[in-house]
Amino acid sequence: MACLALICLLYLTTQSSVSSAKSLTRSARLMRKPIDYTSAHSSCGRTDDDKMIVLVTGAAGFVGMHTSLTLKASGHGVLGLDNFNDYYPVPLKRARQKALLAAGVYVAERDLADEGAFAEALGVCAFTHVLHLAAQAGVRYAVVNPQSYVRSNLMGFVEVMEAVRHLDKSIPVVYASSSSVYGLNTKQPFSEEDRVDSPASLYAATKKSNEVMAHAYWNIYGLSLTGLRFFTVYGPFGRPDMAYFSFTKAVLAGSPIKVFQNPADGGELSRDFTYIDDIVHGCIRSLETSGASGKGVAKPPRIFNLGNTQPTEVSVMVNAIEKATGRKAIRKFVPMPATGDVVSTFADVDHARTELGYSPSTGIEEGISKFVTWYLDYYGPNGYERATPEELAYKGY
Ligand SMILES: NC(=O)c1ccc[n+]([C@@H]2O[C@H](COP(=O)([O-])OP(=O)(O)OC[C@H]3O[C@@H](n4cnc5c(N)ncnc54)[C@H](O)[C@@H]3O)[C@@H](O)[C@H]2O)c1
Repeated sequence: MACLALICLLYLTTQSSVSSAKSLTRSARLMRKPIDYTSAHSSCGRTDDDKMIVLVTGAAGFVGMHTSLTLKASGHGVLGLDNFNDYYPVPLKRARQKALLAAGVYVAERDLADEGAFAEALGVCAFTHVLHLAAQAGVRYAVVNPQSYVRSNLMGFVEVMEAVRHLDKSIPVVYASSSSVYGLNTKQPFSEEDRVDSPASLYAATKKSNEVMAHAYWNIYGLSLTGLRFFTVYGPFGRPDMAYFSFTKAVLAGSPIKVFQNPADGGELSRDFTYIDDIVHGCIRSLETSGASGKGVAKPPRIFNLGNTQPTEVSVMVNAIEKATGRKAIRKFVPMPATGDVVSTFADVDHARTELGYSPSTGIEEGISKFVTWYLDYYGPNGYERATPEELAYKGY
């Protein structure tokens, strides 16, 4: 009897959470902003029939904006999709949207995890490619809001795969993975040949899952899929949650910065900082070389490291910020918290060099100098005059 009651309770609980999830999906759908078809069709326009027409998810994001602008400037048709979530200040995403609109790129406001929303966008133009960059990014935020990673990175990924396989299996998909999949690996430089079975964060686990799911969609439906493992991307219009961005803000304000140390030996963390232009080039070459989907036609799923091959201590990045701003940083060294970061990253990019002609060319000093120039232009000569209250209050995670 007690057992029966427990089963009934479990059933009712499951049913109520399923129906609340369903009603959430329904309400999200009701709230979908209508797509402006005139702007969308013009955005998809290309200069020549041999150019691509690309649906870019996460277009109001850092990598999405830059890649969409370069695609459009090269004559390709582009339609963006983004949900403009508030993981970091939304005004920056709106400013990127403004820059995109000025260049003729329209961004449809859609949440990938809203069932059918991506499929609707995929039906708007005769797309030749999908560049799937939208995701819940950031390693530490997964400790605060793990569900957002499941929604955007897992449910969102499946929505993209399902829409492509139902609507047009010939469309190749290039998607963002991450260097974080190398997790606790110690052999460096990191190579695509290495096993990646020890993620250090939920974020990394979702990105590794994307690569595994991609394999399944290739195996069953013959989708053409390329995963790009980006290594710490930085540059103008970058992400406020990343260290180079928040350090610049703090240095300009005369506030201290927290520089993480390896808790095991007090050593410095290092990252293979990769400038945005190099990443954009890698994304576009991946689209161009992806080849058609189709059962028995599509190449096996591809994975590329896109890094700079120059692991750089965080202090060196801070030195570059000091040089570019002309201000001294107040450095507070603290042990790295146990929230999923790794000690160092270093990319082997031989595979991307051979297959994509990828050749990173911007060093940290030059890249940070370009970032700081943008920062001062965007936020004001002292770094805050044009910042919104939301941006001034943002502390990151
Ligand atoms: N920037 C880096 O250093 C880096 C490194 C490794 C991997 N990546 C990956 O590259 C991609 C782009 O990163 P980024 O730095 O431009 O991040 P970003 O946060 O600036 O851009 C991601 C965009 O996706 C949108 N988005 C998130 N969830 C969505 C959803 N459910 N539906 C629709 N839109 C959604 C966000 O609003 C955001 O504008 C991400 O997949 C990220 O995980 C980035």
